[in-house]
Amino acid sequence: MGAAREGVSGGARGVFGAFSPTAGATGGRGLYTAGRACGKRDGNDAAWAVSRQAAGRSRAPGAAARERRQGTNAARIGRRTEERNGVALVNERARILGNAEAGPNLYLMTLEAPRIAARIEPGQFVHMKVPGMEAHVLRRPFSVYARDAQAGTLEVLYQAVGFGTAHMAGLARDGASDAGAAAEAVELIGPVGRGWDPAGATRALLVGGGVGAAPLFMLCERLVGSGVRADVVLGAQTASALACRGRYEALLSAGASCGCEGPHCATDDGSFGRAGFCTSLVEEALAAAAGQGAPYGYVAVCGPEPLMKIVAGMAACADVRCEVSLERRMACGIGACLSCVVDTAHGKRRACVDGPVFDAAEVVW
Ligand SMILES: Cc1cc2nc3c(=O)[nH]c(=O)nc-3n(C[C@H](O)[C@H](O)[C@H](O)COP(=O)(O)OP(=O)(O)OC[C@H]3O[C@@H](n4cnc5c(N)ncnc54)[C@H](O)[C@@H]3O)c2cc1C
Ligand code: FES
Repeated sequence: MGAAREGVSGGARGVFGAFSPTAGATGGRGLYTAGRACGKRDGNDAAWAVSRQAAGRSRAPGAAARERRQGTNAARIGRRTEERNGVALVNERARILGNAEAGPNLYLMTLEAPRIAARIEPGQFVHMKVPGMEAHVLRRPFSVYARDAQAGTLEVLYQAVGFGTAHMAGLARDGASDAGAAAEAVELIGPVGRGWDPAGATRALLVGGGVGAAPLFMLCERLVGSGVRADVVLGAQTASALACRGRYEALLSAGASCGCEGPHCATDDGSFGRAGFCTSLVEEALAAAAGQGAPYGYVAVCGPEPLMKIVAGMAACADVRCEVSLERRMACGIGACLSCVVDTAHGKRRACVDGPVFDAAEVVW
């Protein structure tokens, strides 16, 4: 998902790759167009010009000092924060066990982090301090793709979009570094945030766009493990960017006895599955489930914001509860700095601790 689609604004693209809704994205009916949101820049972009230097653009005056200050504060608050919002936060140094290419501009990092692996819930994230980034001390937030609580490991699927993630892609992993150098380690604060809440649903639809497929995988495991019928729709620019497809296939075939289906895939270039955006598959899935007399009780979506907005609209029309995982630039990651606010029907909320998962009906898009 690295190559952004021409003409899609940086703000709308978010970090999960390009997505530009068109009339065709909704099956031509134009019911769910994202409107202005498709091209709008997030207000946080202006305030968060701290990474412009890495992207080859000019850096806002005082940005480095501000970033250092916020990073130091985050570390200090992180150290002293044992319990916040009912979630025990852990500060853990995690050895990199794997850091392999997983698709175009996509990497899969495996981390040894037993304390966080034991606690993390689907949809929560870790706030990562990357070694060798002294000039960029802010941590980077990443959802957890998979965990093995027994082995004490976490996996993060990430897209190289800027300085931090490009630097991460070059970090040495266990046993694979040149000249036998030791594996590197990152510092993690986690588990952070409020994850998915499919409570009460007997059938669920999960929709992942680009690297947004990863934060839904643990939810899918949880649903399949509890015998809930889960259907999955994945969208990406190309077949090779459908990095999570194989794991979903294996998981959903294990859940076939409770009717799990998919993953149903769409690629922008038609190289795998349906050609075009995955929204047409979502619309069909919602209609088919209602037609079968087994409507969904829950929709979860993660990906570019325009995709989430469109799917949220479709779910609302079908009268199905929908949750979205929102991305914001984050500084402290623990609710203290207000850099990550989201407008909701109940006022401003912090994506890091009140989210990143929100009820789609409450989000002011
Ligand atoms: C809760 C949460 C979970 C996330 N999970 C994942 C994940 O599982 N996999 C993944 O690849 N990414 C994920 N992200 C996004 C990831 O944190 C950013 O891609 C990363 O911080 C970028 O760091 P950088 O130094 O490479 O980019 P920078 O050099 O800082 O910025 C490069 C470009 O990316 C944009 N950007 C950077 N961070 C964000 C952001 N948070 N939201 C929108 N645009 C951004 C900038 O505006 C800029 O255009 C998540 C973000 C949040 C808030
Ligand atoms: S990142 Fe500081 S309040 Fe959310």
